[in-house]
Amino acid sequence: MSAPLHRPRRLRKLPAMRDALAEVTLEARHLVHPVFVTSRSESRIIESMPGVCQWPVEEAVERIAAWRELGIVQFLLFGVVEPDAKDGRGSMADADHGPVMRLIEAVGRARLDVILWADVCLCEYTDHGHCGLLREDGLPGDVENDPTIDRLGEIAAHLAAAGADVVAPSAMMDGQVRAIRQALSKAGHDSTALCSYAVKYASNLYGPFRDAGEGGMRHGDRRGYQMDDRRTREWAREIALDIEEGADMVIVKPAHTYLDIVASVRRAADCPVVGYHVSGEYAMLRAAAERGWLDLREAGLEVTRAIRRAGADLVISYLSPELAQWLD
Ligand code: PBG
Ligand code: ZN
Repeated sequence: MSAPLHRPRRLRKLPAMRDALAEVTLEARHLVHPVFVTSRSESRIIESMPGVCQWPVEEAVERIAAWRELGIVQFLLFGVVEPDAKDGRGSMADADHGPVMRLIEAVGRARLDVILWADVCLCEYTDHGHCGLLREDGLPGDVENDPTIDRLGEIAAHLAAAGADVVAPSAMMDGQVRAIRQALSKAGHDSTALCSYAVKYASNLYGPFRDAGEGGMRHGDRRGYQMDDRRTREWAREIALDIEEGADMVIVKPAHTYLDIVASVRRAADCPVVGYHVSGEYAMLRAAAERGWLDLREAGLEVTRAIRRAGADLVISYLSPELAQWLD
């Protein structure tokens, strides 16, 4: 029998030793919980995202108050509107009676002491379902960049005026950060934070989100503006541009499938990095757990820690309420 010289197991033997040596932390303060707020009067469950619902404004306020009790302080808001309320310019994104605008104001009135992030995009509100404005002659998939960034700036300024603490543009248009920063500044919202979805891949893992946000496209796909997963260095350019244009934080999305990118961005960027554990990644965990193929609690904590370990300061996760309870 040969005795090994080195025995790494020495430091694994005692649970207290394992805890003492743990480097990666996960706390409720690291979590951002996405909330779908609907203009309908009834809540609706989302088939492909067990545990996630669309909430009418008043119920959403109550839910946010309850999640706040669990220690979750940051919420990312998405609006859901009726198909007949959608139009070419995504008017409901920032109409005073739009669901997100109403929720931001209601949470403000309720003084909940939370941080509200507003997603800034057009796809949930346009009749064609794309993230920007289409050409007048309506060529499918041909999103017009420059008119779109003006519209995104306008939306961001309205959301900030309603009381959004953070605006998070997710349309992947060139120059959107600068356009939004300028629009905010012009409207007197210099202290509104801007967290850009700087590195957002055209991913198949957004499928369940399109049920949740009812933002599917009538034709085409998003490959003309979201990133190609086969490129390995493009993230560096996206990050550099967004920080230079005035982003305060940057998002990598998806996060779980793109941990290599999260780690690279963390090394390259001197601002906080946010990892988005997206709908399809969440749905996979939930579906396996429902079949008893893995333990949702242990696997959910491990996956979320993996995103933290890769370098994310914050994690946007649909599992936030459960995680916050398990962490206690
Ligand atoms: C819309 C948007 C999407 C997500 C967040 N904002 C969908 C998309 O780009 O098609 C995806 C989130 C998720 O899948 O959890 N711009
Ligand atoms: Zn979009």
